[in-house]
Amino acid sequence: MLDRIEEIRKDAEQAIRACADPKALDLLRARYLGRGDGMLTEILRGIGTLDAALRPKVGEVAGRAKNEIAALLEEARARLDSRPEAAQAGFDTTLPGRRPALGRRHLLTQITDELVGIFERIGFSLADGPEVETEYHNFDALNTPADHPARDLHDTFYLEEGGLLLRTHTSTVQVRTMEQMPPPVRVISAGRCYRRDTPDATHHFVFHQIEGLWVDKGVTFGDLKGVIIYLAHQLFGEEVQVRFRPHFFPFTEPSAEYDFSCIFCKGEGCRVCKRTGWIEIAGAGMVDPAVFEAVGYDPEAVTGFAFGMGIDRLGMLKYGVDDIRAFLESDLRFIEQF
Ligand code: PHE
Repeated sequence: MLDRIEEIRKDAEQAIRACADPKALDLLRARYLGRGDGMLTEILRGIGTLDAALRPKVGEVAGRAKNEIAALLEEARARLDSRPEAAQAGFDTTLPGRRPALGRRHLLTQITDELVGIFERIGFSLADGPEVETEYHNFDALNTPADHPARDLHDTFYLEEGGLLLRTHTSTVQVRTMEQMPPPVRVISAGRCYRRDTPDATHHFVFHQIEGLWVDKGVTFGDLKGVIIYLAHQLFGEEVQVRFRPHFFPFTEPSAEYDFSCIFCKGEGCRVCKRTGWIEIAGAGMVDPAVFEAVGYDPEAVTGFAFGMGIDRLGMLKYGVDDIRAFLESDLRFIEQF
């Protein structure tokens, strides 16, 4: 009998201490001390039927257990009543809160902002131009005659309205800027461009370019190299090397393509750089005098350079994105990673 009482007491102590809900506490009180069939109540009531020699001891132990359980119930009641209001109303205030979904800038916007910032720090300001362009601004003024391969229908989306197209590069903004202001100019411009390409991991018919133009008295190819090297170091670190290769663009003379030493293998040769140690970044050159003439600048008075590059491509390199289509698909699983 004494063991049984101790068992009930222990059981009650555990249950009451663990109890976190006032209603459950009422049930516990009924279970152990309830007037009708409380476990201890029944034992106390049965004492009279016990052997006379056992009665005093059992009575004492059961009485003590009863007081103890009553005290534990009091204590638990006080504990539950002193909880903050929200907890009393049934909220568990110890649970972590639900985080509101945070919006963010798209990875392309982040890269574009970073590039714009890099150039703004050395005195470039932002210029803009339309995505639906005239053939004149996309080609003619950029010294691109009608029979140039870039004007082939396969490369360009022409609109039904005569003379309009979706710009194939941001070099259009060079023309628009120089039309609007006299030299000196030092602008960059970023935005969407379109070409009739079949999408795959590295091509898309919509892509993004950033263009730079610096025109003033005495601007040289050396200045161009300085700006591109500065860009490479800002983007990928001081150890990146830059090389220029002769190239042809109708609107620059001389023209060059520039490469950065592979940021993945540090120039050793790997899969990304096709074992060459170099990654092609984009095109640049000294503004062709024919372009100055088209916008009304005097090619004898000023010189300048222009450069352009694919933002998507830089983003792929910098953030390890292996498919250019990811930039345009609005897949949250991709977007939320950056
Ligand atoms: N517009 C050229 C292209 O899309 C890049 C370029 C820009 C080249 C400026 C020279 C100067 O490929």
